[in-house]
Amino acid sequence: MRFAIVGCGVIAPTHARALQQLAGHAQLVACSDIVPERAAALAAEFGLTARPFEDVLADQSIDAISVCTPSGLHAAVGVPALLAGKHVIVEKPMEVTLEACDRLLEAQRTSGATLGVICQHRFDPASQVVKKAVDDGDLGRPVLAEARVPWFRSQEYYDSGDWRGTWELDGGGALMNQGVHTLDLLRWTCGPVTSVYAQARTAAHERIEVEDVVAATLTFANGAIGTVVASTAVYPGFPARLAVHGSAGSAVVEGDRLATLAVAGRPTIGGEQANAHALQVATGGTRAATSAVEQGTADDTPGPLDPADVWGEAHRRQLLDFIDAASKGRAPLVDGTEGRNAVELVRAIYASAATGNVVRL
Ligand SMILES: NC(=O)c1ccc[n+]([C@@H]2O[C@H](COP(=O)([O-])OP(=O)(O)OC[C@H]3O[C@@H](n4cnc5c(N)ncnc54)[C@H](O)[C@@H]3O)[C@@H](O)[C@H]2O)c1
Repeated sequence: MRFAIVGCGVIAPTHARALQQLAGHAQLVACSDIVPERAAALAAEFGLTARPFEDVLADQSIDAISVCTPSGLHAAVGVPALLAGKHVIVEKPMEVTLEACDRLLEAQRTSGATLGVICQHRFDPASQVVKKAVDDGDLGRPVLAEARVPWFRSQEYYDSGDWRGTWELDGGGALMNQGVHTLDLLRWTCGPVTSVYAQARTAAHERIEVEDVVAATLTFANGAIGTVVASTAVYPGFPARLAVHGSAGSAVVEGDRLATLAVAGRPTIGGEQANAHALQVATGGTRAATSAVEQGTADDTPGPLDPADVWGEAHRRQLLDFIDAASKGRAPLVDGTEGRNAVELVRAIYASAATGNVVRL
């Protein structure tokens, strides 16, 4: 699948490296940016051709586009790309309004091409363990779920791009930009949310329109309640955390690692043991190998894949899923509907924070 990257800023090299590591599946050939020097720099670094967006759209030999523009410009690039027949994968968040998400979904339906949304942490082995534990019923009745993203971003970070910290193009602050990864994992593992109540503030930064601290409580359709806490004002910053607690077990992810998997009737695992387990689950390891992990002999357990490969860039694993989905005509793991679900939840939290009311979804 021949790719072009549109938007050659901070995240673009991650796409370029991931696509080049997927040789045999993908060939990255071109890049484009409204600032020609940025496209030229990325092209020079990765051996690409820098081209105007219109040329990329018109080039029938380009099959797919990675959209790495500011969040509020994903539809401006993605919609014409889909309508030109390209498969499109947009960075997170899918867009900054539901209306823009819907324009992407409509273009996808019209064109029949594949639309994906980067949520690379869904491809972390630890996240996949949590998802599987919930889906298999290992945790019992879901009771409480927490997404916590207590990060730090300096004022210089917000000053580094005109779009950062604006409602129009960032779509929000600590939650829409940074917290959306963990919020997506919460929504993915625990299912639909029926109502939210939230507070948000701009607590520690200047020259930003959006929140740098937000706290929300959630009610899930399955009856569980949850909390979401996100900040970019918590110095020096701490690892993101996802915790799903049920009547028969708990699964906790810290950073991108499985911190604890506790299931009633089985030994609780944590730390390296938990990550060896996550690796087995993510690589389709056998139950026998998994039992060895549970018995504490994980170090001797041969994995079907090199761990470095599995712990490597999650972008690469998501792009591989996207390419496979597009070539088979199936939906990618994170399709437009899934991307929209995360934006809907962020927007509901903002609506509650703005009005002081409970918002029902
Ligand atoms: N998945 C992740 O972990 C992750 C990490 C960082 C950023 N992101 C996402 O990636 C996107 C880009 O973020 P960034 O930090 O790379 O931003 P950035 O400002 O560094 O880069 C954006 C680039 O897009 C270009 N651009 C703007 N409008 C354009 C247009 N209409 N056509 C072509 N190019 C255009 C800009 O000139 C700039 O070079 C955002 O949506 C952000 O949320 C995701």
